[in-house]
Amino acid sequence: QMKGLGDAILSGEPLIGELPFGVVLADDLCIGEQPHDSVLPQMVKIYEQHRCSIVAIEEVPEQDTHKYGVISGQEIEPGIYRIDDMVEKPPEGTAPSNMAIIGRYILTPDIFDLLRSTPAGTGGEIQITDALKSQISKGGVIGYKFRGRRFDCGSIHGFVEATNYFYDHFFNKP
Ligand code: G1P
Repeated sequence: QMKGLGDAILSGEPLIGELPFGVVLADDLCIGEQPHDSVLPQMVKIYEQHRCSIVAIEEVPEQDTHKYGVISGQEIEPGIYRIDDMVEKPPEGTAPSNMAIIGRYILTPDIFDLLRSTPAGTGGEIQITDALKSQISKGGVIGYKFRGRRFDCGSIHGFVEATNYFYDHFFNKP
């Protein structure tokens, strides 16, 4: 049964145990600004400083916020936000900011217990956003504006854009 992203992550618990771990949503294709500066390793460095769950964030146009988990928070260092709230797919006009969660997460393993007690939320699914919201009041959650670019390969436009970008940058060289 597909019960949502939170449930999918919970099903990985036997593989993870008591360690912090990374989650990659493959429909968000991310590339760092420089070679050898991929987004997840950037986030590992932020984790090492803050020792709490880290979510990748990106500013999106206001009219697109309803497609994402959206955060609000205080910028504590350039590009690093201490999150104070997050909402999964807020109805148009109600988002707390235009900072959207992108499909790269470093999660601490206490997330599993939180997921177990998280009821179905937006769309009738168990949402990782809701479990992360519980972590905000426990140990804190950091939002990280990564260096790089993201393609939304879950949309036809994004998929074509990614195909053209990677062709131009990696295959179409003289
Ligand atoms: C998932 C998350 C959402 C996040 C998005 C990023 O949603 O639930 O918080 O902003 O990925 O792509 P989905 O796109 O699977 O509906």
